[in-house]
Amino acid sequence: MSDEPGRRIAVGITGASGALYAVRTVAALLSRGCQVELVASDFGRRLLRDELGDTAVLDGLLEYLVTRYGDSVRAGTLTLHRNRDVGASIASGSYPCEAMVIVPCSMKTLAGVAHGLSRTLIERAADVMLKERRVLVIVPRETPMSLPQLRNMVASAEAGALVLPAMPAFYQGPRTLDDLADFMAGKILGGLGFSHELYPPWTG
Ligand SMILES: Cc1cc2nc3c(=O)[nH]c(=O)nc-3n(C[C@H](O)[C@H](O)[C@H](O)COP(=O)(O)O)c2cc1C
Repeated sequence: MSDEPGRRIAVGITGASGALYAVRTVAALLSRGCQVELVASDFGRRLLRDELGDTAVLDGLLEYLVTRYGDSVRAGTLTLHRNRDVGASIASGSYPCEAMVIVPCSMKTLAGVAHGLSRTLIERAADVMLKERRVLVIVPRETPMSLPQLRNMVASAEAGALVLPAMPAFYQGPRTLDDLADFMAGKILGGLGFSHELYPPWTG
């Protein structure tokens, strides 16, 4: 586990419900001084606006995060990529990006990752994480789940991904949606190897 500033982490946002998890995660990474390489699918972009409002646009995301979470997010850097650009930096194993999270992860993108399809930059960057034996965190969201969807989670886990479903817990006594998002972002940060204070540890 390393909290050194400057760690380079890729974040993929796809069209599954839970945009709040994505922005909370990006904000937490930036606040730790990370270099965040962000890519959203078309439905991921749509999800940001549908669930968070018209100011949650990718091109203005840093300002959105500053408004929502404060100036601490300026500690990191945010680089945007186009999902169609499978030649972007994070598409290569030679690029020093140490970990990736796909949050939220649609069943479609989950299937693409599970089967190594690399059709988009998100799928390709995830494939790079798996082939290079780096950390890949997948945050799927769907309910109920079909057998192929369940199998795709198993296949991803077998390939080395950490499957971390969007399942916030209630034992912390959450009062707001932000509390639920903090819980998920904390789990994700833990999966990426960061310590965090997004929710208090269980003390028994
Ligand atoms: C408002 C909205 C909510 C959606 N929620 C989910 C969801 O929770 N899980 C899911 O797998 N797909 C969901 N979808 C469907 C995906 O967005 C769709 O399958 C899309 O093709 C996924 O593409 P992507 O993985 O490239 O983002 C939703 C679509 C919309 C418009």
